[in-house]
Amino acid sequence: MENNSRGAWGSRFGFIMASAGSAIGLGNLWKFPYLAGANGGGAFVLVYLGIVILLGFTMMLGELSIGRATKLNQYGAYKKINPKFGFIGGIGILTGFLILSFYSVVGGWVIKYIFQYIMGGVQQADKMGYFVSFITNPYEPLIWHGLFMAATLFIVLGGVSGGIEKASKIMMPLLFLFLIIIAIRSLTLPGAMEGLKYFLIPNWSKFNLDVLVKAMGQVFFSLSLGMGTLVTYGSYLEGHEDLPSNALTIPALDTLAALLAGIAIMPAVFAFNQEPGAGPGLMFGTLPNIFASMPLGNLFGLMFFVLVFFAAVTSAISLLEVPVSWAMDSLKWSRTKAVWIFAGLCFVIGIGASLSNGPWEQKFYFFSKDGQNFFDVLDYLTSNILLPLGGVFMSLFITFVWGYDNAFKEIKIGSKNNFAIGGFWKMSMMVGVPLMMALVFLQQTGVLAKLIGQ
Ligand code: PFF
Repeated sequence: MENNSRGAWGSRFGFIMASAGSAIGLGNLWKFPYLAGANGGGAFVLVYLGIVILLGFTMMLGELSIGRATKLNQYGAYKKINPKFGFIGGIGILTGFLILSFYSVVGGWVIKYIFQYIMGGVQQADKMGYFVSFITNPYEPLIWHGLFMAATLFIVLGGVSGGIEKASKIMMPLLFLFLIIIAIRSLTLPGAMEGLKYFLIPNWSKFNLDVLVKAMGQVFFSLSLGMGTLVTYGSYLEGHEDLPSNALTIPALDTLAALLAGIAIMPAVFAFNQEPGAGPGLMFGTLPNIFASMPLGNLFGLMFFVLVFFAAVTSAISLLEVPVSWAMDSLKWSRTKAVWIFAGLCFVIGIGASLSNGPWEQKFYFFSKDGQNFFDVLDYLTSNILLPLGGVFMSLFITFVWGYDNAFKEIKIGSKNNFAIGGFWKMSMMVGVPLMMALVFLQQTGVLAKLIGQ
């Protein structure tokens, strides 16, 4: 009975588009191409693919089955299985909330650039300088951050099938279409092959444990794992859905988007003799430079930032849905009240994240000797600590609390061919996930570097 008032997906396609929408985001579009380029090209891509298969599939299936078995939000789901373990869900809800606060600031930059391209592109000769002066301005980025949050709020207000699913079913196919068009354009530029080689040819000499850990962290963030997004989305699924096949399809689409992003960006960067640099500068400084010197560049620029917006907003709605679904189930709030309150709070925390790029000079020393601004603290804390922590907790929870018999019972509902997958899943969940997460933690705290003498 509760089920219907919580909402449910209208179709399998809609669920897959919404989940792929959550996974495909800023993480795929600028982080993956850069990471691959800087860490051995094809070698990184192969390692990344291996981890997606070993860890991504396993974790995703774990989250989906917890969600569908309990038909509850991230907190309620853990609590229902064992009342002592609601805290695992609580960590996830907090994580989502914190990620959205800074994600929305970057989403705001994307909307600003869409407007800029509608108005004829970035005119200033020094595109990187333009970007820096924009994000360090105390007021303007806040307006765009507010607009991005308003778009997210508006979609989530529409509910599961009427808002999230509907938006994803329109935005995700368009995203792929635009990405393919831009990838073809980029590949046909003179000199493109150098970039493709940089991105794809394996260079194993750059491979080390550090790269392995980076690839793991990227799999986590990119697949939206470790905070219960897939628990929440899984809770809106009906019994007849085949969970293992969904847990394969979503990572496959996410990986396809990451590869296409690399193929769209790197050849163009090399064709125009740009630096394949890291982070926001690549997307907001380097790419506008390329669009400015390309025939029909403004059109491609507009298309690119619209697709980035689709990617970012479909991830943001999944981040907002996690606390919203908790407040609706557990606090019995209406969707409208929950959406307004959480979006409002994220907006307020985001103000701090935005200002910390400019006038707010306060540095924090929790995670780095040199200090990090508030924006970087939020990013570091969530991606490198809270998400992996959520992952380990989930795997321990399934192994020791829920138990594999119960988990398999759930997974088998609606699935025909889970026999082979079952054994693999159990091994990977029991051994693979904790082992890999231990590696991430050791590396993050610098212990691993000391152990292997790097
Ligand atoms: N997967 C998104 C990206 O790659 O940008 C980010 C994200 C969304 C992380 C949702 C976590 C999450 F729950």
